[in-house]
Amino acid sequence: MKFPQTRLRRLRAHEALRRMVQEAALSADDLILPLFVRPGRGERRPISSMPGHYQFSVDELVKEAEEAHHMGVPAIILFGIPESKDEAGSRAYDPAGIIARAVESVKRAVPDILVITDVCLCEYTSHGHCGVVRRGPAAAAGQPPRFEVDNDATLELLVKEALVHAGAGADGVAPSDMMDGRVGAIRRALDQAGHVNTFILAYSAKYASSFYGPFREAAESPPQFGDRRTYQMDPSNSDEALREVRLDLEEGADIVMVKPALAYMDIISRVKEEFHVPVAAYNVSGEFAMVKAAAAKGWIDEKAAVLEILTGLRRAGADLILTYWAKDVAKWLSTR
Ligand code: PBG
Repeated sequence: MKFPQTRLRRLRAHEALRRMVQEAALSADDLILPLFVRPGRGERRPISSMPGHYQFSVDELVKEAEEAHHMGVPAIILFGIPESKDEAGSRAYDPAGIIARAVESVKRAVPDILVITDVCLCEYTSHGHCGVVRRGPAAAAGQPPRFEVDNDATLELLVKEALVHAGAGADGVAPSDMMDGRVGAIRRALDQAGHVNTFILAYSAKYASSFYGPFREAAESPPQFGDRRTYQMDPSNSDEALREVRLDLEEGADIVMVKPALAYMDIISRVKEEFHVPVAAYNVSGEFAMVKAAAAKGWIDEKAAVLEILTGLRRAGADLILTYWAKDVAKWLSTR
């Protein structure tokens, strides 16, 4: 087809027309708000690298969830900070643990908000790794310990954790550990236990990223030695992301996630084009902190920057966005 020579600026000449021809649109319906929950009562402990975010005790979390719901945010994802940590992360699959208590309380008070739980061990293990650590022969003095994260032993614990969360009433579970086979193992166990409607939001293409720094402060989960590069993905790879996504879908993932979001927009777009399934993008803590810091210095307009970033993620192919700005965006969009 041959188009006549035309003026592309014609369609940009009026505000109403610009809105009418807009392609990607951002809506509060697409957003998931991440929240941190800790033991105690009446607690709202500020997270210094994530201004406006807190570690909430369960009673305060309920208030936050109520507020988010009233503002139009449809879903939250919960991260737990347990009362104590141990080598096996046993509080992660304690039926009386922090996430189980939080889910029960939120679902009782705000039944209509969708509650998703992060399924991982790093917040619960004393070493801060996302699975069962096998230590190698002693390393030379001054060297970090040699270790391996045992894939299959970890699967069993993740399954137990997912069952506890679903049993407490979570609408969806989100495995973020990057062990092989966890989606299938969790799906089978959920089905056997009768949780056939509990959906799986899989952290499918999760990269070993420097942008998780503030989160690790928030969740008190930095690895005590080594790093996560033997289980999280290498930022150089994109074909591998498609293999991860394919495997998770074959194992029963309902929604697949790419994380972080901004340095990985090509991955979001490849995944969407290849699979045509619901894709979530996690606009992570470091991406939040960068904009917050620049805005605090007066170097950037926070609202404009955030709406531009999140619209860009939608344009790239993300159906859902996990963002620490979920409440702000819901408010900005409703008063626009
Ligand atoms: C692991 C987990 C992490 C994040 C979400 N789930 C941290 C990690 O893998 O080190 C990071 C989220 C963020 O940075 O906002 N349970």
